[in-house]
Amino acid sequence: MFQTRSLTTGFLVASLGIAAGFAVIGSPNLAAADAGCDKLKIAEVKAVCAKGGAAAVKKSMKAAMDEANKGGAKLECKSCHTDQKEYATNDKAEGEFKSKLAAHFK
Ligand code: HEC
Repeated sequence: MFQTRSLTTGFLVASLGIAAGFAVIGSPNLAAADAGCDKLKIAEVKAVCAKGGAAAVKKSMKAAMDEANKGGAKLECKSCHTDQKEYATNDKAEGEFKSKLAAHFK
């Protein structure tokens, strides 16, 4: 009886250790949105990202989009982005950015 119990305890301790290990390995991913500046292709966006990270890019995107929309464009974040977590761009994003957002982007 005693032995079974200590085996169970040992197993629990081992699983906790593994879980803690995963937590440590996994944590850098939380910063992924900010660390993504390097892969950006558009210089204006990259510059904002390098200065203020993804949070600054979001602000600039929003401001530029509002300006463009005042001028008659009907843009939403999802006109160019396929998701609102990684902000992956669709195949029209770059062209749309250049023709509609770039002039307002800062
Ligand atoms: C007209 C198209 C367009 C619209 C509208 C737009 N974006 Fe973007 N966005 C882009 C492009 C193009 C990039 C840069 C891609 C590159 O440089 O590789 C980008 C990049 C980003 C990034 C950085 C992504 C990364 O990988 O770090 C974020 C964050 C972002 N946009 C947020 C937003 C938000 C929030 C909105 C809505 C308020 C928005 N965007 C609206 C075209 C657009």
